[in-house]
Amino acid sequence: MNELSLGPRVNAVHSRTPRPWWQPGVVYQIYPRSFQDSDGDGIGDLEGIRRRLDYVAALGVNAIWLSPIFPSPMADFGYDVADYCGVDALFGSLDEFDALLTEVHARGLKLLLDFVPNHSSTEHRWFQESRASRDSPKRDWYFWRDPAPDGGPPNNWTSDMGGSAWEYDAATGQYYLHTFLKEQADLNWRNAEVRAAMTDVLRFWFDRGVDGLRIDVLWHCIKAADLRDNPLNPDYTPEQGEKFRVLQQHSANQPEIHELAHAFRAIADGYGERLLVGEICLPIDQLIAYYGSPEMPGVHLPFNFQLFEAPWDAAHIAHIIDVYEAALPDGSWPNWVLGSHDAPRIAGRLGEAQARVAAMLLLTLRGTPTLYQGDELGIGHVPISPERVQDPQDLRQLGLGLGRDGARTPMAWDDSRNAGFSRRDPWLPLHPDWQHRNAAAQAADPGSMLSLYRRLLALRRDHEALSIGAIELQPSSLDVLQYGRSEGEVHFVVALNFSTAPREISLPPGAASASLMLSTHGRTTFDSGLEPNEGVILRLKTD
Ligand code: GLC
Ligand code: MG
Repeated sequence: MNELSLGPRVNAVHSRTPRPWWQPGVVYQIYPRSFQDSDGDGIGDLEGIRRRLDYVAALGVNAIWLSPIFPSPMADFGYDVADYCGVDALFGSLDEFDALLTEVHARGLKLLLDFVPNHSSTEHRWFQESRASRDSPKRDWYFWRDPAPDGGPPNNWTSDMGGSAWEYDAATGQYYLHTFLKEQADLNWRNAEVRAAMTDVLRFWFDRGVDGLRIDVLWHCIKAADLRDNPLNPDYTPEQGEKFRVLQQHSANQPEIHELAHAFRAIADGYGERLLVGEICLPIDQLIAYYGSPEMPGVHLPFNFQLFEAPWDAAHIAHIIDVYEAALPDGSWPNWVLGSHDAPRIAGRLGEAQARVAAMLLLTLRGTPTLYQGDELGIGHVPISPERVQDPQDLRQLGLGLGRDGARTPMAWDDSRNAGFSRRDPWLPLHPDWQHRNAAAQAADPGSMLSLYRRLLALRRDHEALSIGAIELQPSSLDVLQYGRSEGEVHFVVALNFSTAPREISLPPGAASASLMLSTHGRTTFDSGLEPNEGVILRLKTD
């Protein structure tokens, strides 16, 4: 794929009025352990987040999504929930949560929590009861099976974190299923009592006023009823990690999952305008099924992670935009994600210059963008020395490069001790250049990544064409991705140079001239050429 072979396509603007807040909105992911520590334990907390809300509001995003804050033994840093209706003491208390929510709302922002339905911590009271005996009333809340005839695990499923997905429990002589760590036991969503208990959980948080949920590994929640073996993956090589030893045909993405997604949606809709975002890592044709249908809607936004892995060149990015836009079901709304606590830092992967282009891409594509904390500072690759590794995914399969700690290092606020993150040494190291790559220094520098993000977010907020407008891929020269964004009579062109050489662009037919609204290089005049690694947003004049 060297060239853009795409004809222009204008997608219909589905104008439902009024639009829900999250369609033009931008979501900002906060990883609570690493945003701001207030009590000096080296780990971020809710009070810390509350104190930094002015920063978030000034950035210009619309909603905050918090990674899990619930009581947890922290085997997977909160994705192992021991009580779905509380706050871990490490992060604060329910009262502090309520205070945070009030202040978020006072700033006109929304708050999303992270709902982790596929598995609970093995320390959860439900699992403790389930484990107690074969005839526990909660035995069927999880997956318990006899050993295979040879005493080994009941089937060939592998854990995403390495090894078998089954753990033997000598007390009752059976194995239980864990798609992730053995400390994260999979819940049985075919059990009506599990569903009822989790409905109470959703109501608990919606009643408190949360504006929506990101749903962790939604596509894993239902397994084939007979738990049959997965097919072996013919392309497996050990350096991929054992997750890839088998194809997850029977352990995930079962047809019944859409009924469950719909059940979550029905609860959310009962509270008015609440947002459900699904974490789903599947190819596009399967991903879009999570939108559901008009009769049976699923989640509002099945996360679109394609920018994580797409080869970084104009043709590939144009291709994924085109295929994704074409695949979207009628009435559904797109979304794009550039970074997360699970993925390598974008600036580490692409370098600073292309990370600026990526920021412009993320914030000018049609759909709801999710921005990950620290990417707005351009935090790049952070080396983690072996003795500081924290991520269980890394520790369980050392040497495969599966570690996620590099994306989870603390925010740098200023050049004071520990970058203003904590009075104490933080739980993970800061990025090496934190003394100048921090929020205070960047806020004062118009050429910084932070200033670019703020301008992009402001421009997007001021011009609906850039958020909810139609998108049209435009033919362009090699190395340049060019698209139009239009709403009514307002037309923008975004042109992104993926190369380290200057490139010419041409305006679409009918455009008399254009004025430069924003350049990733900070310049204010434009003729027809892009500098190396430059992205521009142009506003067209059609007279
Ligand atoms: C999701 C989370 C990840 C976690 C996993 C298991 O992918 O984003 O951090 O390890 O689920 O809960
Ligand atoms: Mg703390």
